[in-house]
Amino acid sequence: MAKKKLYDRAKSVLAGGVSASMRHHPYLDRPLYVTHGDGAYIWDEDGNQLIDFSNSNGATMLGHNYPAVQEAINEVMSRGPVTAGETEDHVRLAEQLCKMIPSAERVRYASTGSEATAVALRLARHVTGRTKFLKFTGHFHGLSDAFLFQPRQTIHASAKPQATSGGVPTSYAYDSLSVSWNDVEAFDDLMSREGNQVAAIICEPVWYNAGCVPPDDGFLQHLRDAADKHGCVLIFDEVLSGFRMAPGGAQGHYGVTPDLTTLAKALANGMPLSAIVGKGEIMEELAPTGTVAHSGTYSGHPLSIAAANASMEILSKKKTYTELNKTANWFYEQLQESFDAANMPVVVQGLGTRFGVYFDRQDPVRTSEDSEDNDHELNARFVNACIERGVYFHAYRTAGAPGHNGITLSHSREELGEALNVIQDVAKAMKR
Ligand SMILES: Cc1ncc(COP(=O)(O)O)c(C=O)c1O
Repeated sequence: MAKKKLYDRAKSVLAGGVSASMRHHPYLDRPLYVTHGDGAYIWDEDGNQLIDFSNSNGATMLGHNYPAVQEAINEVMSRGPVTAGETEDHVRLAEQLCKMIPSAERVRYASTGSEATAVALRLARHVTGRTKFLKFTGHFHGLSDAFLFQPRQTIHASAKPQATSGGVPTSYAYDSLSVSWNDVEAFDDLMSREGNQVAAIICEPVWYNAGCVPPDDGFLQHLRDAADKHGCVLIFDEVLSGFRMAPGGAQGHYGVTPDLTTLAKALANGMPLSAIVGKGEIMEELAPTGTVAHSGTYSGHPLSIAAANASMEILSKKKTYTELNKTANWFYEQLQESFDAANMPVVVQGLGTRFGVYFDRQDPVRTSEDSEDNDHELNARFVNACIERGVYFHAYRTAGAPGHNGITLSHSREELGEALNVIQDVAKAMKR
């Protein structure tokens, strides 16, 4: 009841009752009011403790209140951080990223993922002198106007795009080309017609915004080859996939190096920090060496840089991932078995620390069309029952692809086992 009252208060002062549209949990029809987090747990306004599978939309990959990160932030805070100042810490983090991320020869910090993808596209347009760009239907690259177009119907991926937001001029649509993920034929067809006008090919190399849809074998290399053939800039948007399964992110894992990469989320374990990294010759086109505009009062905020340096200490080590990936794979298998045991047609797909759950499906999800074929009503019944029993899954929409959830370095097998007990009970009860 307290939550409903708080939401009523919020709606009279916060636009839409929330501070970010995705914080409205569409299955609960309200946001989760959360007081604090620790490790794998969060606590809501009523004092309920929940095992957290959202992890701040994937940002707190080490877990909440992670001691090494907290200490680093507190140390800088105690010195009196100067916003809009450069420090040795900025340089140290960039040196570390250049060692970890295969495409990184230069680094530029920003504050959000949306800002990083907008700048990456601006750079690509500048160095190619072209305006069009190719994205994959449903991939999310933040909220700058250029990225807010989708084809009218997913099945006809080359159909005229329409804006997914009010206030975005339709004239922008002509620069935005989309094809279905993992559809080589549609991609080749579009590139054979438009390739010489395309500034950038951009993708989520693992499409986590649709749950978890990895690239087919050879697909990322195919994009690399096409970008080279047509003189386009290849951008991997690793805002979500960065650091998720290997120190070098998806590009390290699959062995395909883009020209530019965008990073955020796990980079600073939940503190606001993003980065554009990439080839020196492209990155040096940014002001002040070049003419491509990018600056920001909060870019590389000292508290975020401190959090990122502490996070990279852990995420740069290959051995961190040995146990993490083992635990993640074990959990995804157990999760799948929980639904199988209840005779529910559900597909679980996970890679590294994030996963998607597709209700009322038998076959793996590979393409943009596949991602839309799942049952949100069942998903909502499942998620709401889990939340009632202390297991939190976030949701982002009520139609189309489901959202992503995940585990962190702080989710031990004991906590995951507790969550699995709840999940098994909920699945069995739903089947009855
Ligand atoms: C792949 C990807 N790119 C870009 C963004 C935008 O990042 P931000 O929310 O920090 O603006 C997101 C956010 O979820 C994302 O998942």
